Amino acid sequence: MWHNGAMLVLGIETSCDDTAAAVVEDAKTVRSNVIAAQDVHREFGGVVPELASRAHLDLISPTVERALIDAGVSFGDLDGIAVTRAPGLMGSLLVGVSYAKALGAALGKPVVGVNHIEAHLLAPLLEGAEFAFPLAGAVVSGGHSELFVVEGIGRYAIVGTTRDDAIGEAFDKVAKMLGLGFPGGPVIDRRSSNGDAARFDFPRAMLDSGNFDLSYSGLKTAVKRTLERYGEPHEDRLIDDVCASFQQAAIDVLLKKLEAVARAHGARSLSIGGGVACNRALRAGLAELAGRLGVPAFHPSPKLCADNGAMIALVGSLRLLRGEADGPDLEPVANLDESGLLDAAARA
Ligand code: KG4
Ligand code: ZN
Repeated sequence: MWHNGAMLVLGIETSCDDTAAAVVEDAKTVRSNVIAAQDVHREFGGVVPELASRAHLDLISPTVERALIDAGVSFGDLDGIAVTRAPGLMGSLLVGVSYAKALGAALGKPVVGVNHIEAHLLAPLLEGAEFAFPLAGAVVSGGHSELFVVEGIGRYAIVGTTRDDAIGEAFDKVAKMLGLGFPGGPVIDRRSSNGDAARFDFPRAMLDSGNFDLSYSGLKTAVKRTLERYGEPHEDRLIDDVCASFQQAAIDVLLKKLEAVARAHGARSLSIGGGVACNRALRAGLAELAGRLGVPAFHPSPKLCADNGAMIALVGSLRLLRGEADGPDLEPVANLDESGLLDAAARA
């Protein structure tokens, strides 16, 4: 059925501020993975939706072409096109979905819409992860902080979420307060390694809430108050210590909640995905937690943690293998609750 016996799927991701495309073979091997970050948002310290969709329009064709060249395949070799359908910024999603539908129609190839959050959750499968179910997972990024129980591929339950800011958003806002630029996660991660995480006792919200929800706005405000006490300009020592103390507080709560989910649901493995899953302290904490629980833990390598087309191609490939495809009526959906992720249980 597949070209030369291998199934080649192009994955396209445009849900936020990265234009990304990748080719994945047989739902497991990444043949190429191209991510064109949009620099236009840096000066605004956050993603500007109108600028994002315009940049996707400029970048999508060259990004897809580069992904095919890197993979050494031509359009005709593809067995299908996977595209992020939801959730995300509506204007940004529309660029990817419209492009994928037009390409599919021109090539006569199937197009499959993919849920971005499912793709973050399953990304470790591209690096040989062997999930044991139930799996306790977290998707942590600039727009998401969700805790999941996964009973199997396609069987997801969200058991906790943030009441206010996403964890990556908190990293980005704290970095902005410190004048460290955007996105904030990578630089806070770096500076934390020189800082004293015990210097500031920032609040760990919701630890006694009796549920698996998170909250990051109080932590952000506590950092703001602390910085106001010192006045500007901030000394390097202060910046390093605030970074380390903030990062530790943000991660502590996430890991405690993930542990609670794992214990309550008898998880047999753990997984984290999304941009914040690049964080080195979080990865170290996850490994420590997995050791204590006696279960394996997974996280993608950095290029598969942040938004990328390979994870989209992976989930699209799994859908194609199940004989599923979408028609010309495929439409983007901005909201996670309306994205059909949890209804996926029905098809597993
Ligand atoms: O998944 P992603 O690329 O895009 C979204 O869907 O949001 O995640 C981007 C987020 C940003 O908030 C960024 O600051 C954060 O991930 N991030 C990190 C690290 N690398 C990226 N946060 C903490 N530590 C990092 N090393
Ligand atoms: Zn994402």
